[in-house]
Amino acid sequence: MDVLNIYACFGKLEVMELGEEKEMMYEKIMNSLDDTENFALKLASLLEAQDTITLEGDLGAGKTTFTKALAKGLGVTRTVNSPTFTIVKQYEGRLPFNHLDVYRLAESDEDLGWDELFYGDAVSVVEWAHLIEQDLPQERLGIEIYRIGENQRRFVVTPLGKRYEALCEELMK
Ligand SMILES: Nc1ncnc2c1ncn2[C@@H]1O[C@H](COP(=O)(O)OP(=O)(O)OP(=O)(O)O)[C@@H](O)[C@H]1O
Ligand SMILES: [Mg+2]
Repeated sequence: MDVLNIYACFGKLEVMELGEEKEMMYEKIMNSLDDTENFALKLASLLEAQDTITLEGDLGAGKTTFTKALAKGLGVTRTVNSPTFTIVKQYEGRLPFNHLDVYRLAESDEDLGWDELFYGDAVSVVEWAHLIEQDLPQERLGIEIYRIGENQRRFVVTPLGKRYEALCEELMK
């Protein structure tokens, strides 16, 4: 951060970089697998065509577990497996559903027709999304998952864009 704009308003201290919007962030602790699945189901109920969700977190954090519950909430009846070796899998549900796991794309410049995936009628979930940062829609819902215990996870949810800010208001109620 080079230039800081620090001001106090009615006792609330806000720090932001000049010229940049303040990033909103929400945190939620999942105490069990059930908590994670219920959170995914709630998110699924709020999703619309073209929504994009990015998932970050170490191996075994729970990205695929979360995705499976989300798919179930979207009415996907086929089994959702980690698409690590195929990178993209597409499913039918209440809305079409794209599951991407780009872990193995780190060394590749392959054009996978990202725009068709992200700007079609489907909901897209991307595991390890930072590896294709350039190709992601600017507006999206970012979810970071941190393992804090055997069955406990810390979720940090960042909405990028007005649509996702509104979605978060509902999601975090
Ligand atoms: N609260 C929880 N939320 C999510 N997963 C949990 C939770 N508690 C336990 N787990 C377990 O943690 C594991 C998460 O594995 P998962 O494959 O979803 O991770 P991942 O982030 O997709 O890893 P990878 O990067 O290897 O694909 C599963 O075995 C799941 O049952
Ligand atoms: Mg996974």
